[in-house]
Amino acid sequence: MIVHEEPGLWLLTTPSSAYAVRLGPDGAPRCAHWGPPLTLDQARALPAGREELASEGGGRFGVAGLQIRYDDGVRGVEWQHLGHDITDDNPGSHLTIRMADRHYPLEIDLHYRVRPGDDAIDRWTTLRNTGAAPITILRCDSAAWTVPHRPDYRLTHVTGEWGAEFQTRRTPLAMAETTLTSRRGHSGHHANPWVMLDAGDATEDHGEVWSAALAWSGSWRITCEHDRDGRAGWTGGFGHEGVTWRLGPGETLETPKFTGIYSAEGFGGISHRWHDHVRCHVLPAPDRTRPVIFNSWEATEFDISQAQQMELADLAAGIGVELFVVDDGWFAGRRGETAGLGDWWPDPERFPDGLTPLIEHVKRLGMDFGLWVEPESVNEDSELYRKHPEWVLRQPNRHSSEVRDQLLLDLARDDVAAWVYDRLDELVTGNDIAFLKWDMNRPVTEAGDDVWVPYIRNVYAVIDRLRAAHPHLMIEGCASGGGRADLGILARTDQIWTSDNTDAAQRIAIQHGYGRLYPACTMGAWVTDSPNAITGRPTPLAFRFHVAMAGALGIGGDLRRWSPADLAEAAHLVERYKEIRPVVHGGRADRLADWAVQYTRDADVIVLSWRPTMLVHATAPVRIKGLDPDGRYRDRDTGEIHHGVVLMNHGLPRPWPFESSSELKRFTRVG
Ligand code: GLA
Repeated sequence: MIVHEEPGLWLLTTPSSAYAVRLGPDGAPRCAHWGPPLTLDQARALPAGREELASEGGGRFGVAGLQIRYDDGVRGVEWQHLGHDITDDNPGSHLTIRMADRHYPLEIDLHYRVRPGDDAIDRWTTLRNTGAAPITILRCDSAAWTVPHRPDYRLTHVTGEWGAEFQTRRTPLAMAETTLTSRRGHSGHHANPWVMLDAGDATEDHGEVWSAALAWSGSWRITCEHDRDGRAGWTGGFGHEGVTWRLGPGETLETPKFTGIYSAEGFGGISHRWHDHVRCHVLPAPDRTRPVIFNSWEATEFDISQAQQMELADLAAGIGVELFVVDDGWFAGRRGETAGLGDWWPDPERFPDGLTPLIEHVKRLGMDFGLWVEPESVNEDSELYRKHPEWVLRQPNRHSSEVRDQLLLDLARDDVAAWVYDRLDELVTGNDIAFLKWDMNRPVTEAGDDVWVPYIRNVYAVIDRLRAAHPHLMIEGCASGGGRADLGILARTDQIWTSDNTDAAQRIAIQHGYGRLYPACTMGAWVTDSPNAITGRPTPLAFRFHVAMAGALGIGGDLRRWSPADLAEAAHLVERYKEIRPVVHGGRADRLADWAVQYTRDADVIVLSWRPTMLVHATAPVRIKGLDPDGRYRDRDTGEIHHGVVLMNHGLPRPWPFESSSELKRFTRVG
């Protein structure tokens, strides 16, 4: 049993945590426990704490995750318990605590889901208008999460910008309120919809960490609260402040899932659990091998031709690439940023016989073929816009903002979404396409209340339909790099384009931050040219590879400019990557230091370490984690045998060779 209940008390258990909900004296469901495992008997001793979904009104003065205005102007919710259901979910159990307003015709279901072998607890909310008049929903969060009293809470989250996503930040949790949010209609470069709190004492390997992540790719808001007594928690959901809904008679509003995980094993322990959860219960095709990709963007940008792409394909195949992706620039009229978006057929001048000759060439070389698309956008200079200017997302009497010279289609409209689906379906049906890179290069602007949520739902629906119709198709999520990375998009894509910044030295921090929640098999990482196109930094080829090999490897450089020696080294490194790929993508990931990461799967241990600058501390020994102290491990390259206890306590034999800036170590347990 995963869910236990007795009147007014519910206990959910996972392998290493427990969660208890209790009806408070005011009838509101309240958190009684979120932390280490406990029994129903132990849970009985716990008082009811903060509300599971805080409404406004009465003596509540905190952040309201549920704000309602009825037709007569009255606001808030007075809770009445209607009952509960526990159903078998496949796999797992689903608890629904059914609530209603005491007076007004509004039913509120609080949902909880747990699964065997998984430490994640999914929570979400549904509202149902059972009356005859519309109800205004000013805010409906998915859930509020409460952590136990501790004196020194810290907040861990990521911040950033284009080209510098997923920068980890850890600070004392401010007193009062801290809001993390995106108002951009995508999850954001500047933030990511997850939060972690620890009691000020957690390290990579020890200490309690509480965390939650929202499965939503549009705008969102998570607000943490912290009072002087050490009480803390957060509430979060879709939409930024001011996005409201009218819930008509008989209508239902369902929020996205807000998934929480607790671990007593530090920030490493919490990442392990997130990775397992995403791989086992979020990704649509977790076991599919992520191919080594070539992507044309940095090599050729908008200036592409069939012959040039064929030449790149020859070179890519020569170094072991498995999937050749033509990025932007292949479709009608696309010569730069100002034209073409919306006209999703091959440019007749560049591809006079369509894409078939190129695709056949790529297939003959033993690779699959993929294409870049940006289906939500349109340029004014396009046939689509000339035909359907009314499909653009805009508001009457308001200027239409252009970002990167483009507008957005109003995907909240079902007819526009249907058109997008048809175009993509036609493209994939008519060509042998194994992979789409689905980009979104501008935020949402000039959108009314009725857009923010339906827009994302329709994006999801189009992707879901496309995957169902083309089960072999892989999809990479992208929004100018990592602007739309979250559990919602990962439920329907295979990987994410992590950042447009491919400078390997800067990429390390981006990848570390990304990997706090999301597993390496989803982390698109290319090796590009040196010096780097954005930062101008020169780096050795092996360094660039060793950084990208920590994720889902791709090649994004102009292979025509690589020397024969570079190509030979690249072929060797791609081969090594293919050997370690099952461990990197399916194993446990451990951050050993800011400059090193370890992947462990069964008997295999991989350590990638980097020294981007003359950091003295980066020459310190890197201690390996999670080995059997009594085990013996063979270095697969040198044949040397090491004792587990030595590798764990004294680290890899060092110092680094002075001239080398990165290293890949492979060990296999031999006894
Ligand atoms: C975005 C993506 C890039 C590339 C360009 C093409 O910036 O993040 O990888 O696809 O668009 O225009």
